[in-house]
Amino acid sequence: MRNKTLGIVAASAAAALALTACSGGGRDGASTNDQSGTEGQSGAASAGGFDANATIGVALPWLGTQNWKEAEQMFGDDLKAAGFTPLVQTADQKVPQQQQQIEAMIEQGAKAIVVAPVDGTQLGSVLDKAKAAGVAIIGYDRLIENTASVDAVVQFGSIRTGELQGQSLLDGLKAKKGNGPYNIELFAGGPADPNAPKFFEGAMKVLQPKIDDGTLTVVSGQTDFTQAATPDWDNAKAQARMDSLISGFYADKKIDGVLSPNDGIARAILTSVEQAGQELPVVTGLDAENESVVSIWQGKQYSTVAKPTEDLVKQTITLIQALQKGEALPATDVTENNGKIDVPIYQLDPVVVTKENAKEVFANDPSRLDLLK
Ligand code: BGC
Repeated sequence: MRNKTLGIVAASAAAALALTACSGGGRDGASTNDQSGTEGQSGAASAGGFDANATIGVALPWLGTQNWKEAEQMFGDDLKAAGFTPLVQTADQKVPQQQQQIEAMIEQGAKAIVVAPVDGTQLGSVLDKAKAAGVAIIGYDRLIENTASVDAVVQFGSIRTGELQGQSLLDGLKAKKGNGPYNIELFAGGPADPNAPKFFEGAMKVLQPKIDDGTLTVVSGQTDFTQAATPDWDNAKAQARMDSLISGFYADKKIDGVLSPNDGIARAILTSVEQAGQELPVVTGLDAENESVVSIWQGKQYSTVAKPTEDLVKQTITLIQALQKGEALPATDVTENNGKIDVPIYQLDPVVVTKENAKEVFANDPSRLDLLK
């Protein structure tokens, strides 16, 4: 079912855009651009425009989490409603498959291609080909790295997302586990996804000082991104890692909290702890997936971070409509260096959800509100 825009989130996303447009929002590894806008940065993409019913490609990485399923559906529906001809494909986490899908979109005459990369660094040559054919490239949810062939990226701040996860872990420990020190473990997402190290970096900005001052103990000692990462965002791999952490380090200790980069991994961690017969730790998440919203409401998962797909898709289509008319992309002061160029970023603001504020956050999202019973 289609989700309605979340009231609070929509308001804060709009505020974030207003902020980035007016005064610069140079957090998030993204920097503030001194120029007055991005005009001129979008180059070929803004020249000339294209037919109002043009084919628009959308290349998604997989359908393994709810946000991508929502994106698949909404891009199909909303691009059509805007008069375009959508061509939406998903790549099952496979780089060659995504490269071929983008090639096919170019061959089918797509005028703009929206790309959420399986691997941020592996699309350079196919995107160069798209650029040479005059196709506009918009990164969606994830940065596209190491190429000049990208016009803009639309995403929720990924360092900010991590900061919210780290802060929520601390808040949850205080609220649920008495006085510290607390035993915790750290999980991160798939290393090919440019978001994953940034979520982790944001979380560690908050957690590292508390590890240093002894409030938190990472009992396994596994505090590097590479140790915490979950290949391909695969929940089963996270569950297997949690199983071995529990048997290796928690035979005679209780685990108080776990940093989880998204909801699927959060539920895998909770399942592992449940199966080990231990008291449930405070676990964070991301995406406000239906199953996790229920789990939070039941007092199992502690929190998630909402980043509504509908807002991202809307913002992306606004950019495509500007390109269609031959206009420059709207101004944004946020840019992020992708290894080759400073990419204009259209950045929305994520929001933490716990049992305490869930009803408020989902006030305008009937399908999620319905889960809070
Ligand atoms: C997205 C998350 C998602 C994860 C795994 C990330 O890039 O930002 O919303 O949970 O990929 O699919």
